[in-house]
Amino acid sequence: MLTAHLTLDPAFRVAPVHRRTFGTFVEHLGRCVYTGIYEPTHPTADQDGFRQDVLDLTRQLGATSVRYPGGNFVSGYRWEDGTGPRERRPTRLDLAWHSTETNEFGLDEFMAWCRKAGVEPMMAVNLGTRGIESALDLLEYCNIEAGTHLSDLRVANGAKEPHAVRMWCLGNEMDGPWQIGHKSAREYGRLAAETGRAMRMLDPGLELVACGSSGSSMPTFGAWEATVLEETYDVVDFISCHAYYEEHDGDLASFLASAMDMDHFIDSVVATADSVGARLKSKKKINISFDEWNVWYLSRYQNAEPMTGWPVAPPLLEDHYHLADAVTLGGLLISLLRHSDRVTSACLAQLVNVIAPIMTEPGGRAWKQTTFHPFAQAAAYAKGDVLRVETTSPVHETSRFGEVTALDAVATHDGEFTTVFAVNRSVDQPLTLTADLRSLGALRLEEVTTLSGPDPYARNTADTPDAVAPRANSDARLTDGKLEITLPAVSWNVIRLSRQ
Ligand code: AHR
Repeated sequence: MLTAHLTLDPAFRVAPVHRRTFGTFVEHLGRCVYTGIYEPTHPTADQDGFRQDVLDLTRQLGATSVRYPGGNFVSGYRWEDGTGPRERRPTRLDLAWHSTETNEFGLDEFMAWCRKAGVEPMMAVNLGTRGIESALDLLEYCNIEAGTHLSDLRVANGAKEPHAVRMWCLGNEMDGPWQIGHKSAREYGRLAAETGRAMRMLDPGLELVACGSSGSSMPTFGAWEATVLEETYDVVDFISCHAYYEEHDGDLASFLASAMDMDHFIDSVVATADSVGARLKSKKKINISFDEWNVWYLSRYQNAEPMTGWPVAPPLLEDHYHLADAVTLGGLLISLLRHSDRVTSACLAQLVNVIAPIMTEPGGRAWKQTTFHPFAQAAAYAKGDVLRVETTSPVHETSRFGEVTALDAVATHDGEFTTVFAVNRSVDQPLTLTADLRSLGALRLEEVTTLSGPDPYARNTADTPDAVAPRANSDARLTDGKLEITLPAVSWNVIRLSRQ
């Protein structure tokens, strides 16, 4: 039996928990929009064509903000196509995903959906095929109250109130050769700076995100961020990070430790941003918008046959997640929370059907994937301040990350409640965790849950939607401020305590 220890102290404050940490992403990709959030013929559809079952699950997930409309899709998108009377909207080819876009669902529908879901919209502008003018037009349409051509058009289209979008991504993954309108760092940095500057002239209160690298394994990683920030430092508030993880060659131990890579990625981008700031003699800090992160079995798609034809809303990227995926995703959430001093916004990519926590059947059921659970629990219970935890833990060797600790954990504390989020990354050994909580005063155990099971590859299906779900862990004991609990191998655990 492995044993680990952690110490918690309210003085170990990292930063506040940012609600935007629990953002997600809706792209016009596969069945995310069509038969995902929007399906007018579905039995649960409301008068706007929004699936109520998906809206309910989105609320249960606790998503706080939603990035839209892409992703790769945005780099060829004309936002105007998705506005105005539906019968006049053009059908277009979507080059990014080799699909046909009917534009039945567009900007005003997305904003209406966000209001119903209770989430903040986060928009991306097209800096692939378009530029400053279309970004300004989109911003005018969204944020100006009335009295100009495009704001009046929005009102005429039925959206009387401005959409008041605060957070804007200046393009998407512009370092990637797959991106429509792919650019060098200098080209992109200049365009992003000028677009952002013009957008701020129209609405000074915006929060702007410059594209960082599409992944830390990109050959231009690091240099890209440095060049882009040299051009945009004064204009933007965030640099983006994107990261997707998968199990390679049955190496579960490395996969479960993916947060090691995310930690390193974040630290590297922060160091790069701060070094640019130092060179520019700026007091400003650039934060990270981790606006795409998830488990994604990307290598399976890379080897797939190229798509033929131009289908409407084909099933694309519909990964079916298992328990180990959920535990890994829990580790990634711990990494994001641990870096709350600089990661102040993040989006799980994506929300429905496309590498998603929520799955739907066209015309049928909606259900929770395994990965739904750690996200929903973190969104619900991470409150107040993030606390760094001091841990001692046994280590094991992994081929990708060398030595890793079995225990990974973070905590949050809001005066009334303290919550510890912990994963046991050992593939085969339970871990007895003791925790010293005395500095938090008199506490009682509120709820302890564990997501685990005998088969790390167990999945949920529409027929067995609760096969993998958090269960009460009755093993925890709290005596005189000292906690003891056993964390099963490959598990995500949430320990909630309240003041006595
Ligand atoms: O989320 C799926 C895709 O991954 C996005 O469209 C793109 O930005 C990234 O490469």
